[in-house]
Amino acid sequence: MKDNINPNNLPRHIAIIMDGNGRWARQHGQERIYGHQHGVESVRSVIEGCGEIGIKYLTLYAFSTENWNRPKEEVDALMTLLVKSIHNELEGLMKNRVRLQAIGNLQSLPAECQQELQAAIDATAPNNGLTTVLALSYSARWELTEMARKAALLASGRQLQPENITAETVASLLATANMPDPDILIRTGGECRVSNFLLWQIAYTELFFPNLMWPDFRKENLWQIILDYQSRERRFGKIGEHAPQ
Ligand code: IPE
Ligand code: IPE
Ligand code: MG
Repeated sequence: MKDNINPNNLPRHIAIIMDGNGRWARQHGQERIYGHQHGVESVRSVIEGCGEIGIKYLTLYAFSTENWNRPKEEVDALMTLLVKSIHNELEGLMKNRVRLQAIGNLQSLPAECQQELQAAIDATAPNNGLTTVLALSYSARWELTEMARKAALLASGRQLQPENITAETVASLLATANMPDPDILIRTGGECRVSNFLLWQIAYTELFFPNLMWPDFRKENLWQIILDYQSRERRFGKIGEHAPQ
């Protein structure tokens, strides 16, 4: 299947809402955290799958601003899992030349999380393979609010003239500055909603809602989606190539 992917029409950036861990665990008669633990294997598989075909950017929605409202027990378990996973996966990331980055309100993460994350970001910074971005304590409304603050601050310091603000200015003040917009957004778990993820950046993104819980998702599922993506016509508001004149 991988061989059928056209290397000249690869998505530059794939974004994934990794949903369905809790329901997957329930289906297996286990606690929710069991699903989160198994989700790490899916992350590994997808990172490998991106690397194998030469994808440049992968953004993974791992923890939303709203996820802080879950029971403390689950939040604590997720943060512990995050620290452990970053630690355990670092060797594999280095081997695959993956550069790790993070977006979100990172200061709100527990100190141990911040340290482990920063250590992995620093260690992988020289890598030139896939850039994997973890969205942690992230939400698009948080990001857009931060953008408005930054713009207001620059304007009050006369470094930015309000009449000169363009869509490019906005993009450059977001957490994803310097990254291409996602070509593909995948949400597993069966829900067809965006849940506060990358609202500005997905203006023209192709959306996919595979009928799989995140712990069951593997690189082969990703490759199938990329094949589907390559058969879609993206029009960006223009008329299609085969449209009647
Ligand atoms: C996604 O899985 C992981 C996080 C939000 C951290 P869920 O935990 O939301 O799993 P479901 O949607 O309840 O099955
Ligand atoms: C979205 O999943 C956030 C992540 C996958 C990190 P949620 O499970 O939090 O989304 P809702 O609550 O179903 O919208
Ligand atoms: Mg969910």
